[in-house]
Amino acid sequence: MRHATIIGTGSYAPDNTMTNEDLTKLVDTNDEWIITRTGIKERRIATGELTSDLAYEAAVRAIQNAGLTAAEIDLIICATITPDSFMPSVACIVQDRLKAMKAAAFDLTAACTGMIYGMVTAAQFIETGMYQNILVIGAETLSKILNWEDRSTCVLFGDGAGAVVVSSTEKESGMLSSNLLSDGSKQALLSCPAVPLNNPFTKAETTNFAPSITMQGQEVFKFAVRSITENVKAVLKKANHTVEDIKYIIPHQANLRIIEQAAKFLDVPVDKFYLNLEHYGNTSAASIGIALDELVQNKQIQHGDKLILVGFGGGMTSGAVLLEWD
Ligand code: COA
Repeated sequence: MRHATIIGTGSYAPDNTMTNEDLTKLVDTNDEWIITRTGIKERRIATGELTSDLAYEAAVRAIQNAGLTAAEIDLIICATITPDSFMPSVACIVQDRLKAMKAAAFDLTAACTGMIYGMVTAAQFIETGMYQNILVIGAETLSKILNWEDRSTCVLFGDGAGAVVVSSTEKESGMLSSNLLSDGSKQALLSCPAVPLNNPFTKAETTNFAPSITMQGQEVFKFAVRSITENVKAVLKKANHTVEDIKYIIPHQANLRIIEQAAKFLDVPVDKFYLNLEHYGNTSAASIGIALDELVQNKQIQHGDKLILVGFGGGMTSGAVLLEWD
């Protein structure tokens, strides 16, 4: 039986750091409010780089850390809600820049759960024997879909990219279980419109259309806490593990208070959750990959460690994977 395992990670974020203090020049907010409500101190904001540029840099690092060349990649999946264009996909742009000549490529939309959906999708191609090496990227320039006059959202998000190479192994390790959920009935909690219908049969009145994220913060908060708890429990049960078997839970990096609540519900110390949101804010599909890469680069994960990656976000979507590190 083939199993899907992560053999390389990479991440990248724009150099430009925007602090909470910087935000006070744009909206009526302050460092203390942002830190106490979210835990975020700063975020990276692109000054010219596109989502595909961030995705490419993270991909190069992940492939190098996997000890592969781009020519060995069979499939590229890019999770994003902020592609450069409707077409081509970010995955195709990255495929071209990498010269990953044999790779198929597509984008996937599952908002902040994108990395989890991407990894689980990759695992299906591997377990069926169709592909050997799959590059999964989560990349976002959320800064282009923020309303920079709305203090309730613009302080929360940042830009960045994370990537993993998922490969086939005969060992009983790697992805031990997974869980994916969606609830479209809650779509209004967190949304961002695309271009409106505009053709000879419609009377579109939108000339200066600029899509931006809207959010019902407190409802999203409750959804997030419930989703983390439910998905973590589900992957533990499916893999016949207990939370004590897990070294780190790597959550989507949205908000420290969400994680504190979820830790309480799961009855685990909050430091079992790996967090770096204070430096990046919420980078949507990128956040889990960036956090995982940071742990790997800092050598905080050893062979045999068990990890849970868990995401939640727009759609609404949520999901988790339980991994044994090779
Ligand atoms: N700075 C200062 N004040 C702010 C502010 C900001 N950036 N944003 C909102 N406020 C104000 C509000 O206007 C409100 O003022 P009022 O009481 O005078 O009306 C007050 O702070 C409280 O607002 P509220 O929305 O009730 O705060 P909250 O405690 O729910 O915290 C969030 C807001 C967004 C931090 C919180 O709801 C949250 O984290 N939700 C989840 C968001 C998330 O993670 N989304 C992505 C998921 S993938």
